[in-house]
Amino acid sequence: GVTSSQPYEEFLQCLEFHDSNITSIVYTRANSSFSSLLESSIRNPRFDTSATPKPLLIFTPRQISHIESAIRCSRAHRIQIRVRSGGHDYEGLSYSTISPSLTFLVLDLRNLRAIQVDVPSKTAWAQAGATLGELYYAIAAESRTLAFPAGICPTVGLGGQISGGGWGTLLRKYGLAADNVLDATVIDAKGRILNRASMGEDLFWAIRGGGGNTFGIVIAWKIKLVPVPATVTACTVTRTLEQNATEIVHRWQYVVDKLPNDVFFMVVLNTNATTIQASFNSLYLGGIEGLIPMMDAKFPDLGLRRENCVEMSWAKSILYFAGFPLNSPLESLLDRTISATGSAKFKGKSDYVKEPIPISGFEGIWEKLKEVGVQTGGLILASYGGKMSEIPESSIPFPHRAGNIYQVEEVAFWVEDGVEAADGYLNWLRGLYEYMTPYVSKNPREAYANYRDLDIGRNGGGGEGDYRRARSWGSSYYKNNFDRLVRVKTAVDPANFFRNEQSIPPLSSWR
Ligand code: FDA
Repeated sequence: GVTSSQPYEEFLQCLEFHDSNITSIVYTRANSSFSSLLESSIRNPRFDTSATPKPLLIFTPRQISHIESAIRCSRAHRIQIRVRSGGHDYEGLSYSTISPSLTFLVLDLRNLRAIQVDVPSKTAWAQAGATLGELYYAIAAESRTLAFPAGICPTVGLGGQISGGGWGTLLRKYGLAADNVLDATVIDAKGRILNRASMGEDLFWAIRGGGGNTFGIVIAWKIKLVPVPATVTACTVTRTLEQNATEIVHRWQYVVDKLPNDVFFMVVLNTNATTIQASFNSLYLGGIEGLIPMMDAKFPDLGLRRENCVEMSWAKSILYFAGFPLNSPLESLLDRTISATGSAKFKGKSDYVKEPIPISGFEGIWEKLKEVGVQTGGLILASYGGKMSEIPESSIPFPHRAGNIYQVEEVAFWVEDGVEAADGYLNWLRGLYEYMTPYVSKNPREAYANYRDLDIGRNGGGGEGDYRRARSWGSSYYKNNFDRLVRVKTAVDPANFFRNEQSIPPLSSWR
């Protein structure tokens, strides 16, 4: 970093010129806390090696004026900004880049995490640096019968999550996190602070799912809270091949999108020490008495029993789904140090299934799973239908709505270090993805923007975009909404100030 000290010294002088106290929130590589601060929300250790490109500095604003100064000085000194909220970006783009020569800073929103819940109006304002867990905890502190339909992992940040959609156990009842946003505070590339009225409906549409680090920096979201019963029921049933897993998963596909909206189902397919297993995790918005007869009637093949299920509050069900032990205190939602993948590095890819996969298709998946070690690779299926099918594809940028039975995430985890080990797992995952081709959506092969996958295409390493190239991966994430996203980007950030390897390019970048 010594050779590139000049741009950051000028950048620092610029910051100090605007605010003489600002250096206390700037961490240069010389600062003893730099590495721990950088690593504290690197959620994929794959991008925490000595070879990973690092920022010149980390900037931790405490107030909006700090962000205004950072934008002004970054523009003047050509230092790219990577905004980080929770740091869960699958490809590490909120704190790194594929380009070793890029000069960039991380603008980390960890200190902007205030949450104000207003029970009478069933709304909340939450700053983008808050985690989902902090939001759920704040809601639960006010009411056992209000919730927010966002993701399962408590450490995911509200900044990235809502910028890409945000699904969780309430998606069949209430849609995505981004479907339930009422207003937002955003700073654009010119440093203007905007709300819904002043940003206009085009930009307000784009920030609800059109991808992070593209249209501006979201400071806070105003969200709609949704009603849930005081008691919900969470269940887990695991079946191995010997216990008919193949037939049950196959059957699951014919039922799951047609169940009442009060039921959500997730199935994890992976290996245990001896065989393939399918774990059926479900959440029912109601008590166990209502659930069992309904499942007996609609999905008897699963054989759900009372002892597979536990009644709890909705907030506790997040801990259940996130894999915390039963009876973990609700305060676990606030723990930012817990890593969902432990020290494992990972890569994920995503798909959408519109026609049930035949039995033979699952048998081929089992063969793929047998090629990797115990729980190092798998598929996570999440049920769609319900509210997801009622929301028009153009309502927000996230387009994967009616016609999808379920969403698939293909994933690989590994703890070994080094490029060779990584390549082995990456190749395995790419092989699985290739294998899935005939069974999933086509033209385009749809993908979930929040499961960022640079294999499907990207801009240049510094984020230089090209409309025609971006259209290919952009259609996978956004289908016909891609062109509107390009129009909004062209209007609000024609110079492409906010960018990364998969940000929407402005049209002026057509070459
Ligand atoms: P991070 O800070 O890395 O940001 C992601 C992207 O958004 C980056 O491009 C970043 O620059 C940009 N960004 C961040 N803050 C911004 C802001 N304030 N304004 C503008 N741009 C901003 N998804 C899901 O829908 N449901 C789930 O249950 C889960 N579970 C899950 C578990 C685990 C372990 C991981 C690693 C990921 C998930 N995800 C998920 C995916 C998750 O939604 C996705 O990675 C989000 O983008 C993460 O948001 P963060 O703020 O944590 O990431």
